[in-house]
Amino acid sequence: MDLDQRLARLAAAAADRVESGMALGLGTGSTASAVIRELGRRMGEGLRITGVATSTRTRELCRDLGIPLAAFDDVPRLDLGIDGADEIDPNLNVIKGGGGALLYEKLVALSCADYIVVSASEKRSPALGTRFMLPVEVVPFGWTHTASRLRAMGMEPVLRPGPDGDPLVTDNGGYILDCRPGPMRDPAAVAAAIKATTGVVDHGIFAGIARSAIIVEPDGEIVVETAR
Ligand code: A5P
Repeated sequence: MDLDQRLARLAAAAADRVESGMALGLGTGSTASAVIRELGRRMGEGLRITGVATSTRTRELCRDLGIPLAAFDDVPRLDLGIDGADEIDPNLNVIKGGGGALLYEKLVALSCADYIVVSASEKRSPALGTRFMLPVEVVPFGWTHTASRLRAMGMEPVLRPGPDGDPLVTDNGGYILDCRPGPMRDPAAVAAAIKATTGVVDHGIFAGIARSAIIVEPDGEIVVETAR
C-alpha cells in the first residue's frame, strides 16, 4: 500500500478518537496534516471542533479547510492533541521537530488532557537517536557559542538551513541545531541536560508525553500502542 493510502487509514483511525465539541491540539507535518484534512472532511458531516494550531503551516491548512481555531492562551485546557513524530521508542518517547515546530508542538502537547502520536511504522526505533537527528531550538544571539556547549556534550550540532540557504527561522524566531546524541538509553536524562544548556530554548525529545500511538503498518494495518 502506498504512503498516501496508509496515511489516509491512519487519519481515519485518529479522527475516530475525536468527538464533537472537543478542543484539539493540531500538530504539524505530513502525518498530522492527513489527520487535519480528515477532520475537515468530517466537519462537512457535522463534526464540531475547535483547534489550536502548532505552526503557521497548520494554521493555514485549518483556514483552508474551515476548521475554527482558537488562540492558545484563550483555551485553558485542550481535550486531545494529535501530532506526528520523527522517531518513536518502545515506551512511546518520541523525537519531533523535523518540521522545525517542536517548541509550539511541545507547548500545546503539555496542555492536552490526552495526547496521541500518529505515525507510519517506519518511525519505530529501539532507542531514540538511532534513526533521526535530534532538533534543538536555540536563541539566534550567540548560537555558535550554544552550539559549542552542545558539541562539548557530544551532540554534533549542525545549523539547519532554510529554503534560501540562510538559517531556518522557526515560528518562535529561533534557529534549529540538528544534533546527533547517539542512541539514548535514558531520553529524560538527555532531555534534562540539553534543556539546562544556556541558549537552548527547547529540544525535540517528548519523553513521557504521549499516552498512546496509532501506527500504520506497510500493509495498512492499524496498530494502537499504549504507554506502559
Ligand atoms: C514538525 O516539527 C515535526 O515534529 C513533525 O511532527 C514530525 O517531523 C513528523 O513529520 P511528518 O509527519 O511529516 O513525518
